Amino acid sequence: MRFFSFKKNNDNTNNLLKTTTERSRPTFHVLKIKDIKRETDESVSIAFELPEDLRSNYAFLPGQYLTLRTEIGGQDVRRSYSICSSPLNEDLRVAVKKLDGGVFSTYANSELKVGDELQVMTPEGTFTTSIDEKAARSYVAFAAGSGITPIMSLMKTILELEPKSTFTLYFGNRTTGSIIFRDEIDALKNRFMDRLRVNHILSREDQGSDTTRGHIDATKVKLFAERFFEPKKVDAYFICGPEQMIHTVKDTLGELGVAKENIRFELFTTSAETTNKQSNEKAQEVLKPKAENLSQVTVILDGEETHFELAYDGRTITDAATDAGADVPFSCKGAVCCTCRARVIKGEVEMDMNYALEPEEVEDGYVLTCQTHPRSSEVVISFDE
Ligand code: FES
Repeated sequence: MRFFSFKKNNDNTNNLLKTTTERSRPTFHVLKIKDIKRETDESVSIAFELPEDLRSNYAFLPGQYLTLRTEIGGQDVRRSYSICSSPLNEDLRVAVKKLDGGVFSTYANSELKVGDELQVMTPEGTFTTSIDEKAARSYVAFAAGSGITPIMSLMKTILELEPKSTFTLYFGNRTTGSIIFRDEIDALKNRFMDRLRVNHILSREDQGSDTTRGHIDATKVKLFAERFFEPKKVDAYFICGPEQMIHTVKDTLGELGVAKENIRFELFTTSAETTNKQSNEKAQEVLKPKAENLSQVTVILDGEETHFELAYDGRTITDAATDAGADVPFSCKGAVCCTCRARVIKGEVEMDMNYALEPEEVEDGYVLTCQTHPRSSEVVISFDE
């Protein structure tokens, strides 16, 4: 498990900065929408009212996300969105970009209104960093499209809390008009003139230079590194955007000698649907439904046990536990968000994919239950550990 710490002890009651890295079990609460702001033609940001008694539940680390849940067309829909606000004196706010055919994102962009209520899961996610007000660090971020969302939160918090650190952002978009948070980024640039550098890379607009035209790819990363930063001297890199872009930037930084532990990335557009489909196909391919491939599974949640029988087939612990009536936490079902994390207490299991757990967590017996299948006659899994 990665641990993060904030050395600044801010006692301003308006802030939501989480001061501990202890992970508590994600839980839903009903929150009222306080504000909806149109950020671009295709995206809105949504702020939530936080009743006093729930404020500590929603304290967060910059870079974390919320899972929103509601019923749309008779279906239980849940989606995760990164928090775009800083935990320092800002509302708890997420940004939602409308996707083609996106059930929740379309609903959020066209139907949601101030005063509506949504179920909101407590903040989750490990795309963050330790912050030390005495540190003089250099941060470089690569974002594309709505991948800027968690980076906004990180950027604002770091610039505010680490007065000696610098932040450089490479931000890819189609056109100037599609740049989400453009005004806010400009205002930050003016405020932190000597510590924040922002470079817009536009794929469908000519800014008069080949360097800033096109997509963030390996050539561009190498060019930026050659001209603007020394890859090995940067303390931390943040990458968020489409999967392909993340892998390209990560691999290129690796080629330039950047240590793996200095690169943090958040998979943003991995399609849970696609991934689940792939994992199910894979599982069905390798497993024959034989009588001996049956497991007695126990799931422990809030001290309560749910028992069910699960074949070694394509179904996951999350799906089977939900069907058995346990309200187990999940969100992306695509091995990305970590909401479904739980610990194996007994038995053997296998995960299809894992983009969210650290190697040490896996060693400690933690699994992503949305990717987990039993591999022994008895399996006990706890969400309480
Ligand atoms: S629900 Fe997101 S990783 Fe399992």
